[in-house]
Amino acid sequence: MSKFPKFITATAVAAALAVPVYAEGFGLGRPAMPEEIAAWDLDVAPDGTGLPEGSGDVFTGEEVFAGKCAVCHGDFAEGVGNWPKLAGGQDTLDHDDPLKTVGSYWPYLSTTWDYVNRSMPFGDAQSLSADEVYAIVAYILYSNDLVDDEFVLSNETFKDVELPNAGGFIPDDRLQAEKHFWNPEPCMENCKDSVEITMRALVLDVTPDEGSANAPEETAPLQEAAAQPVMEDAVEVAAVPDPELVAKGEKTFKKCKACHQVGDGAKPKTGPVLNGIIGAPAGHAEGFRYSKAMKSAADGGLVWDEAELAAFLAKPRKYMKGTKMSFAGLKKESEIEAVIAYLQSYSQ
Ligand code: HEC
Ligand code: HEC
Repeated sequence: MSKFPKFITATAVAAALAVPVYAEGFGLGRPAMPEEIAAWDLDVAPDGTGLPEGSGDVFTGEEVFAGKCAVCHGDFAEGVGNWPKLAGGQDTLDHDDPLKTVGSYWPYLSTTWDYVNRSMPFGDAQSLSADEVYAIVAYILYSNDLVDDEFVLSNETFKDVELPNAGGFIPDDRLQAEKHFWNPEPCMENCKDSVEITMRALVLDVTPDEGSANAPEETAPLQEAAAQPVMEDAVEVAAVPDPELVAKGEKTFKKCKACHQVGDGAKPKTGPVLNGIIGAPAGHAEGFRYSKAMKSAADGGLVWDEAELAAFLAKPRKYMKGTKMSFAGLKKESEIEAVIAYLQSYSQ
């Protein structure tokens, strides 16, 4: 059986076999024709490379422009309605709403020549002769007050024109200037010997939440508190901290330090200052904005005696639903006992 369906003619097969090797793999497409490449390969470089021979003066340009461009771009290239303006805007580049035109913004005349030659008039691209394009571009320069009305633009005079904003563009030299940043063989896996978690975002408090205690503008009016009258029965407890236990508690307190300070000059951080907390009424530290949960517990008369504090520290969020203290809790009773003793040593 034939490899080809019947409706493919012998010529088609011959043509298909004639395509170069690179197209064979997929059996798609055909090489571009020289005319097609020429129609696309028009670009003109800032130094004029790529320009065809030809010339045009301002007056001819005005005529062609009036006939083919002015409907949209205005008689003086000043634009009609919302169609682009091709002239004006000098000295507006540092304004909030700069007017970017060939005269004010474009760095190289070659871009103008290329743009007009390649894509205008809108809807009838590439219908202009080279001389017409030279003449139109001369007229656009004239409309921007960059040449006088005697000016003739040609492939020879082209390089005499420098657009005002030529210095506003700089060459992109990152390939050289930033070469040392680019690693030719970037590491894509196992790039770090070991990964250690040193802090948790939650504890660092990098995620702002509503009413965050860290937001200075949200700090609640200072609540009078520091020297709260200490409860009668708490005085006794606070009076006898065991030094060994206090030392142990100091270690445990490392777990609290990310959020709480104690001692002279202690300041509220993520959590309130804990000076004199043992035996104190809940939710009364100065300059701290407590959660609703803590405030209502305080309103309900909660006092941080050892038992309440021990229960709180074991499982803060179970003990007090809605507390802001995002701390899992202390697992060991000995730790709780020790940290309480440590806090007792800061009775003031
Ligand atoms: C039917 C309306 C129309 C006509 C006619 C027309 N243009 Fe345009 N022109 C446009 C539009 C629309 C754009 C913007 C195109 C875009 O941004 O892709 C433009 C953009 C331009 C630009 C670039 C402006 C800029 O700052 O980005 C130039 C230069 C230009 N035209 C020149 C001409 C010339 C020269 C002619 C006559 C040969 C012409 N145009 C005819 C509609 C027109
Ligand atoms: C991630 C931060 C964070 C950690 C860690 C933390 N706390 Fe707290 N703590 C808070 C916040 C926030 C509050 C206020 C709770 C509220 O308003 O609901 C608080 C409240 C308290 C209170 C009540 C204070 C008062 O004025 O009523 C005590 C006591 C307390 N923490 C002790 C501790 C101890 C002891 C540790 C360590 C074992 C600890 N916290 C660990 C954030 C923390």
